[in-house]
Amino acid sequence: TDPARIVIAVDGTSGSGKSSTSRGVADRLGMRYLDTGAMYRAMTWWMLSNDVDVHDADAVAAAAGKPVITSGTDPLAPTIALDGVDVSVEIRSDRVNGAVSPVATVREVRARLIALQQQEIEQALAAGSGIVVEGRDIGTAVWPAAELKLYVTADPAARAARRAAEEGGTDAEAVRASLENRDKIDSTKGGAAVPEGATHIDTTPYTLEEVIDLVVDLAEKAGE
Ligand code: DC
Repeated sequence: TDPARIVIAVDGTSGSGKSSTSRGVADRLGMRYLDTGAMYRAMTWWMLSNDVDVHDADAVAAAAGKPVITSGTDPLAPTIALDGVDVSVEIRSDRVNGAVSPVATVREVRARLIALQQQEIEQALAAGSGIVVEGRDIGTAVWPAAELKLYVTADPAARAARRAAEEGGTDAEAVRASLENRDKIDSTKGGAAVPEGATHIDTTPYTLEEVIDLVVDLAEKAGE
């Protein structure tokens, strides 16, 4: 198999460098890129915009089939739209950060988004293209057959500093608390787990370019 035609499943914690790594690898290898976290965020933004109480799991479950979510899979310019309207900016807001965990734990939400993610992967492969899929459950639930599975982490201070920079804020301490809170919910309610056969990468001591090089290497081996 051409390394550019495989599925790379990238799971791990927020702020680990997982997104930048996934995009960089997809760009280098000419693959598509799917940010599944953005899909959970878009679902959450729809709930908030339509006055669904995100802490009412039954209400969220009942609405889970309604939003039309479309992902643009160009690694250099990924997009996410709700009912045809781009929501790339809205999904990074504090309101969404604070509401996405309870929404992502609802079974109907996960079932719907996992099915959409699987469709996106099937479409890429049918078009002769590989895809890097980033999230929390890609190697375990979305695409266990991925030729390459990664589990990406970094130590909490490095993660908070990166995420604070990404979000354009300066308060790394608050960002760290929010990340840790989300992780706690994610790991107890059916999100992050280490997929069988995954390569664990702790990005703490490496630059982004070093991590991308390492993963491109692994992808080339996995694609042989
Ligand atoms: O990676 P992120 O911070 O954009 O993810 C947003 C939220 O969505 C986070 O709380 C975990 C959840 N998520 C999930 O449950 N499953 C995924 N495949 C991706 C994200």
